[in-house]
Amino acid sequence: MSAAASAGGVGALLSALPAGAIASEAETLLGFQGIPVSSADAVVVPPGYSARVLVAWGDPVSDGPAFAQDASNSAADQAQQWGMHNDGMVYFPMNGSARGLLVQNNEYTDDGLLFTDGTANWTAEKTNKSLNAHGVSIVEVSKQRGGQWRVMRPSAYGRRITGQTPIAIGGPASGDLRLRTSADPSGTLVLGTLNNCAMGYTPWGTYLACEENFNGYFNRTAAVARTPLENRYGVSPFGNPGQKYWTTHPRFNADVERNEPNRFGWVVEIDPFNPESMPVKRTALGRLKHEGAWVQEARDGRVVVYMGDDERNEYIYRYVSSDKWRKMIKRGENPLDSGIIYVAKFSADGTGQWLPLTPANPALASWTLADILINTRGAADAVGATMMDRPEWIDTFPDKLTAIATLTNNNRRGSSPASFNNANGSTLAGSARPPVDAANPRAINNYGHIITWSYYQDWTEPDFRWDIFALAGDPAVPAHGSTILGDKYGSPDGIYVAPSGRVWIQTDVSTSTINEGVYAGFGNNQMLCADPATRETRRFLVGPSQCEITGVFVTPDETTMFVGIQHPGEPASELSNPADPKKVSSWPDGAAGGRPRSACVVITKDDGGAIGS
Ligand code: FEO
Ligand code: CA
Ligand code: CA
Repeated sequence: MSAAASAGGVGALLSALPAGAIASEAETLLGFQGIPVSSADAVVVPPGYSARVLVAWGDPVSDGPAFAQDASNSAADQAQQWGMHNDGMVYFPMNGSARGLLVQNNEYTDDGLLFTDGTANWTAEKTNKSLNAHGVSIVEVSKQRGGQWRVMRPSAYGRRITGQTPIAIGGPASGDLRLRTSADPSGTLVLGTLNNCAMGYTPWGTYLACEENFNGYFNRTAAVARTPLENRYGVSPFGNPGQKYWTTHPRFNADVERNEPNRFGWVVEIDPFNPESMPVKRTALGRLKHEGAWVQEARDGRVVVYMGDDERNEYIYRYVSSDKWRKMIKRGENPLDSGIIYVAKFSADGTGQWLPLTPANPALASWTLADILINTRGAADAVGATMMDRPEWIDTFPDKLTAIATLTNNNRRGSSPASFNNANGSTLAGSARPPVDAANPRAINNYGHIITWSYYQDWTEPDFRWDIFALAGDPAVPAHGSTILGDKYGSPDGIYVAPSGRVWIQTDVSTSTINEGVYAGFGNNQMLCADPATRETRRFLVGPSQCEITGVFVTPDETTMFVGIQHPGEPASELSNPADPKKVSSWPDGAAGGRPRSACVVITKDDGGAIGS
């Protein structure tokens, strides 16, 4: 593709190119044989490719205790083992494409699988183990002679950051009254990070773990009146009625410890190369149900961070640092501590605007900066941003000034009752379903879509032009209205632009509808590869039963790809037909092994070539 950006995003880039150039590039980008849908309890990849488990829940991150298949490992063991239900990840090279640090989030736990006796007989030890299975796992990985990858044990870098690790609260909201608790009257130090969904990484070599559905960890009853802030973020009796942490750890009782939930919902910066370093919650990036934080260096030297808030009818955000990131680092400042958050407004004419969330915005004249950062959702409501169909991952085409984002699905748009609760108990300030709009064109968006936006000169421009990359669904079924050119998929969640420009799309069809209802015939969750010039999309990988595919990163030479397999065998209680043998997983250890485990797998091409070629 041309390096120049042009009006209309990727689609216009395509039309500006001679057809011959596109055809030859398509041949180089999608070189593999697409695979059919699958309902097998296995990771399936194309002929000529191999997928091997690198590390799974419970494996030691260094020289700690081994995983016990009966789940009898203690809370202390778990604090030295790969966490549960891995999600976003980054490979940080130490020796190019042969050795590095693999950092992956552990988004949540299935407490029924985490303990030998499941969730019965709940104790403080169980809360501790569950908290210790959350957070972030760091392992040192190395390619062996013969091309196989393994986790180095012991390793000075092997590390767990859990739901109990001390984490500093940095940035403009640090110390705010709303962040103070009985255990931390200064409002500057919090224990742990929770529900780390997707991620990001910075040009200065750090990892960003993003706190998504934090509200579900807190007990909140109807006995104590809720504030608008609590309602807006779903800190409510509907957040997660079954959670048990508060019964042993009082900080999770939000009826009493009112501010503890305000200390979650942030982006957490971690230096994986310094195992002694304390992670920091970067409050200048705002408080959301953060999906991820994708950092792009602007041509003027500042950093731009793209962030999605993953809930129905929430927003897409952009942060721009106040100065060039190199200058800020040189001055001893963190580029994620000082800048402006913007929220996106998508207009019907294909243009859009970034609306600044600062006290200087007349719509926010009565807000302090800390108000905006702690109640970022409320600030975005006040400026009239566009409610989106569940913003998930975002990535960029660095040379093309184009970003690409997944909108996974939405069933709360168009004509509707006057108000509703979101799935996790949050409410919209306006308490009305938004109408269908140009950027979210389906009233019931079962399959989701992918959107792009582009700039003329730099990533920091106040306006953009947007385009829909694909409306998902089955393109062979006219009723789906899908615009996919190639293999069907729905509920796109992970999206990742490899250095070659290949676009990797991962799906998160919820367990209750995998291969059923509107998803009948779609098989298990999957990963596809798209060529951005032609938009041709081909299925590359299908995961085991009931899993979600989430987390993907390649080595710089693209000959190794790391892919996350999350929650194979999600609980039978979630299934409409628990007796269906296709929906019971024993991946990756097999029937003799016992319980299914989330894991990170390594994909290689048998001829040593780039993944997808
Ligand atoms: Fe944790 Fe939005 O997926
Ligand atoms: Ca996700
Ligand atoms: Ca997900």
